[in-house]
Amino acid sequence: MIKAEHLAAAAALVGSLAVSAPAAHAACDPGKAASELTGAEAQAVYDCIAADLHKGYATGDKRWIDAGFVRDYRDWTRASSLPAAPGFHGERFLVTWVNPTGADAYLDYAEDPIIPSGTVIAKESFAVGDDGKVHAGPLFLMQKVEAGVSPQTDDWYYMMVAPDGAPVAVEVMSACSECHQANFAHQGGLGYPVEEARIAR
Ligand code: HEC
Repeated sequence: MIKAEHLAAAAALVGSLAVSAPAAHAACDPGKAASELTGAEAQAVYDCIAADLHKGYATGDKRWIDAGFVRDYRDWTRASSLPAAPGFHGERFLVTWVNPTGADAYLDYAEDPIIPSGTVIAKESFAVGDDGKVHAGPLFLMQKVEAGVSPQTDDWYYMMVAPDGAPVAVEVMSACSECHQANFAHQGGLGYPVEEARIAR
């Protein structure tokens, strides 16, 4: 069971960690609050900001993060059919992509999946405020490394890139891994998109 209070607290933490870029997307503002948007309207917002969102993430030096992940994730398999409704990850809309190594395993959305090392998952995010304005959110990344490399995170590396492309240093255990492991260890640490947003393979 997901512990709602824990999720809310941790989601607030991730939200507060986000470096918010005052990106101007005025032409893409839906003009109503996130809670009032239909899936199709959220998708329209995403379509409008998608090019800028990726350009922002890809800008500048990625330092400890593999720049190839950030450059290429849009060529991977998309795992959510619409920007999944806000909830976790700081009340953001989320679009999830999985690289070729992991796409088959991830898109089964299995309990107890076998996730091959080399799997990389990228999750784009954006928020819509109560004022109806859209704001780019961070890019969240998970990389499955060889067994035994990072036992305390079940061999997942967690990374985050700000909307302006800056890699964000997070305390991976408390900011990412504890929530994923506490709630989704039975699913290999994966939360998966909400069911209505999942794309099956
Ligand atoms: C409050 C709990 C929580 C915290 C903290 C959290 N996540 Fe997640 N994460 C989730 C949930 C729930 C999902 C599935 C929901 C979705 O993607 O729509 C998810 C999904 C993901 C995914 C897509 C793969 C998957 O699990 O299906 C990535 C990548 C990801 N998170 C990265 C991160 C990173 C990086 C951090 C730290 C900066 C982080 N997460 C912190 C709850 C959390």
